[in-house]
Formats: sequence, C-alpha cells, structure tokens
Amino acid sequence: MKRTLGTCYYPEHWPEEIWVEDARRMAELGLTWVRIGEFAWSRIEPKPGQFDWGWLDRAIEVLGAAGLKVVLGTPTATPPRWVVDRHPEMLAVDAEGRPRGFGSRRHYCFSHRGYLEESRRIVEAVARRYGRNPHVAAWQTDNEYGCHDTTISYSAAAHAAFQDWCAQRYQSTDALNRAWGNVFWSMEYDSFDQIGLPNLTVTEPNPAHVLAFRRFSSDQVSLYNRAQVEIIRRFSDAPISHNYMGRITDFDHYALGADMEIATWDSYPLGFLEDRVGATPERQRACQRQGDPDFQAFHHDLYRAVGRGRWWVMEQQPGPVNWAPVNPAPLPGMVRLWSWEAFAHGAEAVCYFRWRQAPFAQEQLHAGLLRPDSVEAPGHAEALAVASELAEAPEVCPGAAPVALVFDYDACWAWEVQPQGQGLSYFDLVFDTYRGLRRLGLSVDILPPDAEAFDGYKAIFVPGLMHMPDALKEALAATPAQVVLGPRSGARTAEMEIPVPLPPAMPGLDVTVAWMETIRRDSPRSIDGTGLATRWIEALDGPAHPVLKGADGATLAVRQDHLWYLGAWLDEAGMDAFLAGVCAEAGVPVQTLPEGVRIRDTRTERFWFNYSTVPVTIEGRTLPPAGVLRETL
Ligand code: GAL
Repeated sequence: MKRTLGTCYYPEHWPEEIWVEDARRMAELGLTWVRIGEFAWSRIEPKPGQFDWGWLDRAIEVLGAAGLKVVLGTPTATPPRWVVDRHPEMLAVDAEGRPRGFGSRRHYCFSHRGYLEESRRIVEAVARRYGRNPHVAAWQTDNEYGCHDTTISYSAAAHAAFQDWCAQRYQSTDALNRAWGNVFWSMEYDSFDQIGLPNLTVTEPNPAHVLAFRRFSSDQVSLYNRAQVEIIRRFSDAPISHNYMGRITDFDHYALGADMEIATWDSYPLGFLEDRVGATPERQRACQRQGDPDFQAFHHDLYRAVGRGRWWVMEQQPGPVNWAPVNPAPLPGMVRLWSWEAFAHGAEAVCYFRWRQAPFAQEQLHAGLLRPDSVEAPGHAEALAVASELAEAPEVCPGAAPVALVFDYDACWAWEVQPQGQGLSYFDLVFDTYRGLRRLGLSVDILPPDAEAFDGYKAIFVPGLMHMPDALKEALAATPAQVVLGPRSGARTAEMEIPVPLPPAMPGLDVTVAWMETIRRDSPRSIDGTGLATRWIEALDGPAHPVLKGADGATLAVRQDHLWYLGAWLDEAGMDAFLAGVCAEAGVPVQTLPEGVRIRDTRTERFWFNYSTVPVTIEGRTLPPAGVLRETL
C-alpha cells in the first residue's frame, strides 16, 4: 500500500472561478486525496426534494481532472433548517432535558425515525448520483459521530427505542429486574413501558440501568451508520470510512469499524493537549507546541485495530486551531513530524484539515494550508516536505508489535458509570500503560477484547477490563505470552454485578481481590522498590507469588507462571519498573528513551521522533527538535 497525502476542501465556500486553480495547486503540492461534501446538504438539496447537483458535479470534475481522488462525505452531520422544521422532534436532548438547537452541527438524535429516513433519502440520492463516478474513490459516512457530546440523547425517540432495546435484550421484566438488581430501593418494573432514561433521578441511578443505556446509545450509532453503509454499497464499490476522534469513547468503534473498509481519525495534537490528554500542567507546558508524545500514537494504534489494518488520518492539524482553551502554532517541523508518525504507525493517507482558512463563520481562526487570501500558510511548506520525502519512501509495510494492549469501549462505560472516585477513568489507566510501554522504546499493538488472535505477542496487557467474558479469560490463559491483568480486570459481570467467586477469577492464577480502595492523588503510597501506588489500590489474597509490595508490606502485584495481576495504579516510575520486569520475563528488550523521544517500527523501518524542544542524541545520532529519523531495518 502506498502512503499518500490529501486535504479537506469545501468547494461550496469558494467562488467557482478558483476551483481549477485550487485543484492545480493541490496536485502540485503532491496531494492524492480531497475530501468534500460532508457539510453541504443545504447546497445539495436547498428545498425538500429539489436537488442542485450542478455545482457538485462540476467540483468533482474539476478535482478529478487535476488528477485528485475524491473522498465524498454524506452530509448528514448538518441537516439544514428545513429538515429540522419538518421534524422538530429530531433534535437530541441533553441530560437536563433541553433540546439541542439548530445553528451549528450534529443537531440530531440517532434514535429519531424521521431523521433516519431523511438520512437514508439524502445518502441514497448522493450515492446514486456519484456511486459510479470515476473520481469518487472513497466515501465517508457523516462526520465525527459523537463530536460535541452527541452520542447520548434523552429524547422521547431515544426513550421509546431504549424500552424496545430492553425488551429485546431481557425478554421479560423479571429477567431485567434480576439482571439490574432492581429489588434494591424498590426499583422493580412490571412492564417495559415503565422503564425511564437514567437522567433526572434524585440521586445516582442504578449503574446497571446506566450501563444498559450506554450500550443502547452505542448500538444506535452503529445502526444509523450501517443504514448509510448499506445504501452506499448498493451504488458503489469504493471503500467506505468514517472519521473518528481523539478520546471519544461513547460508542463502540470496533462495531462500526466491522461494517466499513477503512477507519480514519482526526488528529489535532495541540487542540487535544489541554483537556483531552490528561497530562499534568508541567507536561502541557513542555509540549504546548508539539502535542503529547503518546496521544496521537495511541489513536493511530487504536484506529489501526478499528480499521482491521486499514486506516488514515482524515484531518491533520496544519497550524493553530480555534476550539481549544489555548491555540498556539505548532513548533516548526511538527506538522511534518505528525504526518510521518502516522505513516510509521501504518497510515495509508494523511489529509490536512483544511485546504484554505475560511474567512467566515465558526472556524475563521482555524488555520489551513492556505490563508484566506490564498497565500501559503506555514503548514503548506511542511506538507510539501512530506510529499517530497514520500516520493523516496512510498510504501507502508506495517508489522506486528512485540507487545499488545487491550482496549474495550464497554469497559470505558462501566468505569464512567462507576468510577469509585472523582476523575478515575479507564482511558487514563490504559493510556498510562501505553505511555509506559512507549517510554521503554516499544511499539505497541492495540487489540479489541474479542481479538481473534493473541498469537505472536510476547506480552499482553489487559488493565481495567471490567467485564471479562470466560472465552477471553480462556484465550489469555492459553497464550504463551506474559499476560498482565488489573487493576479492576474482571471486576464485574456483564450486568455490572460483583461476581462470586470474587475477581479476577482467572483460570491458572490463584489470586482474589478481597477488597479495594481509592486514595487521594496527593497521598500516594510508597512501593517497596521504585515508584508509588496512586489512585486505586486492591487487597490481593491467595497463593500466587507476590512480585510487587507496598512499603507497608501489602501485596500490590502477583504472578503465577505467565499470568500476572497488578492490583494498583502505578505512577510513572513504578509503571516503568513494573513493565520492564514483565518485558524481561517476556524476552522483549527495552531501553530508556530520552525525554520526548519515541520509537515506532514497521516491518521494514525504524522511526525516531523528537517531541521535545531541544536536540537529542540517541545511539550516536542527533535529532533536532521536531526531528524525524527513519532507518531501514
Ligand atoms: C473536526 C471536524 C471538522 C472541523 C475541525 C476543526 O472536529 O471534523 O469539521 O470542525 O474539527 O478542527
């Protein structure tokens, strides 16, 4: 597969006279792809049933004639005003019961039947018209499901659909009452019509009820997306994708990924830094113009799993964005670094968002490759540098990493439903483990919990996976890899109950989590050795061999043959020492990388990336700030 570049373009924002010149300049820059159309419903269908295809026909023709391939987006993230007027109940409703109004985007509820029909209608019209167009080489469904907190809706449509979902899953209210433990606080139902949504309750709703609602909300996204995919497939053989986001976990991305050929995601390293990464203020300051050294990589690895190997960056930040708490310009060289990092993790394409900065509306202060006056913005030169380097190294040869980390959306929801302490999150726990592995110089594969194959890995990490089905436990017990569970792995049944026998109940590992506590972040406990136990500590009982103890003598981790259980959330030093110990047993060589340096291997190449602001020397080579080194293996 060839590595390619692209951009996101909005022909409807610009006078038609400049399209030809834009297309020429895109091709001259070395771009292959141009994504268009995803917000253009009001121009495609200005009035109900009245289509204006002329401009879009011409735009696709102009781009195609310049040698570009079009990714065509379905425009359902931005239903025009007339659609909302036709279906006033289609608006999503927030947890306080307020409808989310027209005037920006994503103002729809996934459960609204009328909106689903409107979506089917517009998707069919677009797919019918362009399904065989030779320039339309890929599709994107909608845009960023879940963006602006839009997966979960407490609308009347969601309420009715949730009752149906419960009836299908549990078959009887007796079964539902038992599964949720509704005898507690007299919450029992005797008809599915009585079941409400878990908002506006006096105090916290039943965690099993909330988890069911989260699973339902995720299923609604899958069904909605599948409806679009099925229509597009009737008219086109081109691959279908969706652009996912950073740290958005409200729906099961693996479920959507299974329905499409390619997973893409939108990477805004500086935009994410302050409120999505979860880094300390010191680290945020140190990385303010580079982004976090692990956050992009984590998502590259996650979406490689979601796309079952095929994935792109659909939107790459090319300069300052407009939507983060603070919006600096990237350190010179970072746009190039971010692009190469995606390729190092196996991306087939990196597309810059956007071609030209818009002088109007919400994103006026969002950089593009061009300024609003069409002069090249700083990101343009970096895209050009990547394009010329790609000419020398066009092929991606992704290879398997030595270690794997399991990431599960259902576990994310279970932790959100029951964090057992403010700010405790599954994402952070998994991400801390990922960071630790990367600090040791490792490439990591992320796997879904129902991975078909655990073969080939030397070590597999499964932190925080709240519900572990028996088949997963058996598969992990059967691999020859070192397998590390915990904290909180296997801590709940599928219906959010504490299982008996107590967790982790892992075959071949004689340990029981007798009880657990969460602790203040300013009061971590010392480890007997290196580092600290923070946030989450479990009391471990049983004959498995202790491998990590607290300074107070408490057992924090145990091991039996190739199975390990870690009963604490470790700080960086503790994590590094623990992971290095597991890797030594697994026969995976590790190293300590200089601050800000990360490595990623493909099957044929090794890459070094310098996320720091100072030059770094490693293995005799000096990497400048924002430097990238590539070596053939
Ligand atoms: C993404 C979105 C784009 C644009 C961009 C700005 O979340 O898909 O349409 O809004 O952010 O950074």
